[in-house]
This record gives sequence, C-alpha cells and structure tokens, in this order.
Amino acid sequence: MSNTENPSGSPVISVMLSPQELDRRIKELGKEISDDYAQADLVLVSVLKGSFIFAADLCRSITVAHSIDFLAASSYGHETMSSGEVQLTQDLSNPIAGKDVLVVEDIADTGLTLSYLLQNLKARQPRSVKVAALLDKPSNRKKQVHVDYVGFTIPNKFVIGFGLDYAGKYRNLPYIGVLEKH
Ligand code: IMP
Ligand code: MG
Repeated sequence: MSNTENPSGSPVISVMLSPQELDRRIKELGKEISDDYAQADLVLVSVLKGSFIFAADLCRSITVAHSIDFLAASSYGHETMSSGEVQLTQDLSNPIAGKDVLVVEDIADTGLTLSYLLQNLKARQPRSVKVAALLDKPSNRKKQVHVDYVGFTIPNKFVIGFGLDYAGKYRNLPYIGVLEKH
C-alpha cells in the first residue's frame, strides 16, 4: 500500500475544482477565444498527455472554425518536480507557418515546458502564438512565461485529475484534486 492510500486501501484525495466549476470556466474560455479568433486561422496545439481532456472540452466550446494538432513534451526528474530539461517527444503532424497557434496546456508550473515550447513553435513562423492553460501555479515559476488564457490560478500544490497525473495515474478523475498524503 502506498502512502497515498488510507488503511482501507483507497487514495486520500481532496477536491479542489469540481466538474461543474471546470465545465463553467472552460465554456467561458471558449467564448473568449471564439471572440478573439473570429478573423484568424486558428490551430489548437494540445500538449500531451496532460491537456487531452482540457483540449477536448475547450475545442467543443470554441465556435470558430479551427484545426487541432498534438505534440508531446517531457521534462525529466522527480515524479512531482520538473528537472528543467525539456524534450519534444512527439511533434506536430502539420506545419504551422502563417497560422494562429493556441497552445493548450494542462498547467503552467515552473514555466520551463511552456517557454521551451513557445521558443520551438515561434521558430516555425506562425502568424501568432498564444497560450491557454487550465491551471496556473504562478508561485512556482522558474522561467517567466505569459499565459494568455488561464482557467484557474491555484496555490503551489501537486494536483491530479482532469488529465493531470501522478506517476501516470489519476488522469481520469472528473475533477481537479490534491493527493493529501503525498
Ligand atoms: P512546468 O513545470 O511548467 O514545465 O510543467 C511541466 C508539466 O509538469 C506540466 O505540463 C504538467 O504535465 C506537469 N505538472 C506540473 N505541475 C503539476 C501538478 O501539480 N500535477 C500534475 N502534473 C503537474
Ligand atoms: Mg503536461
């Protein structure tokens, strides 16, 4: 039994953001993005794996025509801490030159992943690049990065659910939670 489990064997998770709160906020973001990108050639770039659920909900809240592409990035280190070394482990399937790119991330934590991705994507000559992150932990920044659309600003706690994992698990939770005995 791991220390994330109580004596009965189930993990101790407290809810930080309910499914209803997430749903309401993502719809608001979708409306804001639809207004801002009315005249654009929008492509959502979903950062795997953590953003897949947010991206699925966000794209269905966006009413302007757009395409969606995926890339994967990993930062190596301790399970709950970024090491600072970021690598692209899976690239986009299409060029983004001339496009209006919106990077869709699960969380901006140290900012290292996003700043690496922004630098990498900007080199491909898109018309514009902005960032939408479901969660923002600004107190843990190591690199300053501007997040244009923030779902929720949260305290410096390790969160799981709604796409975010701990050691590969808990992505399926329909809420954002905190592993209490972590
Ligand atoms: P960064 O520290 O801003 O580079 O964030 C890198 C990645 O770490 C994020 O895209 C998440 O996948 C992961 N991450 C950061 N904070 C958390 C957290 O609280 N829970 C789960 N994953 C996290
Ligand atoms: Mg991630």
